[in-house]
Amino acid sequence: GSGVVRRDRFSGGPARGFMSSLAADERIFAADLAVDRAHVVMLAEQDIVDDEVAGDILAALEEVESAGHAALPEGEDVHEAIETAVVERVGQDGGKMHTARSRNDEVATCIRYRLREDLLESAEATVALREALVEAAAEHVDTVMPGYTHLQPAQPTTVAHFLLSYESAFARDTARLLDAYDRTNRSPLGAAAFAGTPFDVDRERTAELLGFDGGSASKASGASSGAERLDGVVANSMDAAAGRDFLAESTAALATHATTLSGLAEDLVIFANKGFVDLADEYSSTSSIMPQKVNPDTLELVRAVAGDAIGGLSGLLTTLKGLPRAYNRDLQRATPHAWETVDAVSEATAVAAGAVATAEWPAETLEAAAGEGFSTATGVADALAMAGVPFRTAHEVLAAAAERADGDTPDIATLDAVAADVLGESLFTYVSRERVEAALDPVQSVASRDSAGGPAPEAVADQLVDAETGID
Ligand code: ARG
Repeated sequence: GSGVVRRDRFSGGPARGFMSSLAADERIFAADLAVDRAHVVMLAEQDIVDDEVAGDILAALEEVESAGHAALPEGEDVHEAIETAVVERVGQDGGKMHTARSRNDEVATCIRYRLREDLLESAEATVALREALVEAAAEHVDTVMPGYTHLQPAQPTTVAHFLLSYESAFARDTARLLDAYDRTNRSPLGAAAFAGTPFDVDRERTAELLGFDGGSASKASGASSGAERLDGVVANSMDAAAGRDFLAESTAALATHATTLSGLAEDLVIFANKGFVDLADEYSSTSSIMPQKVNPDTLELVRAVAGDAIGGLSGLLTTLKGLPRAYNRDLQRATPHAWETVDAVSEATAVAAGAVATAEWPAETLEAAAGEGFSTATGVADALAMAGVPFRTAHEVLAAAAERADGDTPDIATLDAVAADVLGESLFTYVSRERVEAALDPVQSVASRDSAGGPAPEAVADQLVDAETGID
């Protein structure tokens, strides 16, 4: 008859190697064993499988675990290979392990189970980086340095203000990763192929056994259907088997973080080039031919990881785009984009933390450079504006002075001459000589900008407290 044709489940053919994800599935080997165990325990508790058979399967899984991923028989993927290894040990009853499930809900559960761990690791790496930034910032609240726009000297700031600008962004990255964690932390198991099962499965029980407890974030936003009805479970079985937006969200959070991180790396590469930061030898590298070179290679690699992450996100979204419900094998090639991204970004973040923690900021060089390029011009304009000159007019005075000084800081006589031209009156009709001198001094210029979030030491002290509180 044509009804029951027993054939090797994965005979393959020419496309055998192409179809198999067994090697890549090493990443979810431990996850699959955990998922198998939880499922078998639940099947026994629900009297779907005898306790004795369940015990034999669990014992076999123990052996499969000690033998390791490399010892698995051939298979289309890790799920099939583990099942084959269990049947080899238990006999036909080992096949009861796959009652009331499909590889579709199984693989989705495995990915979420493993990704949780990876997301926590990446979030921890962002926290370690933030700690390194805060520690360095605490030492440099008073270290004045040039601040740039368009790569040109713009206004003096401090090293602490600069470092905390990145800390603030990385704090949001931590939050985004933890949000992604919350929505990842739900169990698809029990969805079977996508269409549920007639067996009396307890999906909340397997979720509990696997530590899926949903997230406060997803619950609060009501973003997960059935969040109130089923604890820790992706309720709709078609959504559970097909959904990979948790991968997209996680990878997007990583790519966002890597993008900001590449900006920090770029700043440090530029500053190292100018002698504004001394990177520790462990984070620099020499040239194989040019003996005098000390290059910021480590940070250039950190900068490049944004390329991996954006590529990973783009590869993932391109693979997911237009996939119809419910399961399509394309999904097998979606997952590795997320693994590669999370590995590259976590590593880069940890390396950046080390580089920041060991870097030194030469205060004298930085302060000397802080006033270059007439970076105090805005402060003088502000002083005039505070004395009642319309800011636009004050801007005109300083723009004319800048032009006359041709890239340098004009002396006070020049400023006064220009003021006379533009305002028709002496500069000192509006502001005292001391006031102008203070505005031209980079240290006092920074100290004067004490608006909330600004670079003045008192304002940065508040930001430091907020950053420290955010990390705890
Ligand atoms: N290895 C597959 C994946 O990663 C899971 C297997 C499901 N295969 C299938 N033909 N339904 O998506």
